[in-house]
Amino acid sequence: MSKDRVLSGIQPTNGSFHLGNYLGAVKQWVELQNTHDAFYCVVDLHALTSSPDPKELHQNTLTSVAQLIALGLDPDRCTLFVQSHVPAHNQLAWVMECLTGFGEASRMTQFKDKSQKVGNERIGVGVFTYPMLMAADILLYQANQVPVGEDQRQHIELTRDLAQRFNSTYGQTFTIPEGYILKAGAKIYDLQDPTSKMSKSADSLSGLIEILETPEVNTKKIKSAVTDTGREIKFDEKEKPGISNLLTIYSALSGSKVADIEKEFEGKGYGDFKGAVAEVVTNYLAPIRKQTLELLDDRSHLEKILKAGAQKAEVVADKTLADVYNKVGLIPRG
Ligand code: TYM
Repeated sequence: MSKDRVLSGIQPTNGSFHLGNYLGAVKQWVELQNTHDAFYCVVDLHALTSSPDPKELHQNTLTSVAQLIALGLDPDRCTLFVQSHVPAHNQLAWVMECLTGFGEASRMTQFKDKSQKVGNERIGVGVFTYPMLMAADILLYQANQVPVGEDQRQHIELTRDLAQRFNSTYGQTFTIPEGYILKAGAKIYDLQDPTSKMSKSADSLSGLIEILETPEVNTKKIKSAVTDTGREIKFDEKEKPGISNLLTIYSALSGSKVADIEKEFEGKGYGDFKGAVAEVVTNYLAPIRKQTLELLDDRSHLEKILKAGAQKAEVVADKTLADVYNKVGLIPRG
């Protein structure tokens, strides 16, 4: 029997990914490459929606690839590629846009949030059509599952709707994908504001743990994380969001169960606990940071991996695109 397929993507927006990206998504990508036919892409076209500096985008895309490998992706066990290297993503995105209602796209929370922040005059049309490009990313590969964090749930719902709409209009074409969203780790919160998700676009970076940051800076950020009233180390998202977030992080990186960690810290204070979290996080990230920097020293090796990845991805993507173009009535070039 053939394996189920997974696809996911990550934006190369900053030099470094953050702990939310890792625990919400990439950690699952690493596991799924052992059991699934896995396709993972660095979505550089999506990153254009935030108008990055060209040199930075170029460098951040390579840093993203190096980081994904250092975090555990193995190009021999998964297809790792850059979105813009496979033109079918843009080509299918147009078909998806023609299938999407204006109101439907306007209801996407990420678009609503961003347009409220900068206003309708200044928000790019790319932010509006972003979810249709994401739907194309997924549907081109006939993915069964899409490992992502909680914040992508609505985009996956839209992808499912579009796939169903296309199939019922033009005949069976797309696999209907499901989100693969874990309970623990699907939403890692900002250390300074533990009711908001950890994000690069937060007003302050003091609550953000970056994978490539030095151990000193990350230790300082964790030790100054906002905690809650009381003294107990107990998982209670409502009453103790700060401590619960640190417990989630500690548990995911150490492999210990939350209940066992609570026991271990019985009678101890927040200071002891934060020190232990800082140690687990920095010990976990140190070799990843080192390997990323080493991989970045050998650019031609990274480029070779990306070339092979794009070639493998293209075979699958082009087949789906040809089927879609044929079904909607476009004539082949011949
Ligand atoms: P992006 O680049 O913002 O984030 C990459 C992945 O990290 C997850 N994530 C989080 N998980 C837990 N807690 C957090 N605080 C946190 N912050 C981010 C995201 O859910 C995501 O899984 N639109 C996507 C990229 C994309 C994509 C795709 C994903 C483009 N095409 C096709 C899947 C399939 C995005 O902006 O992710």
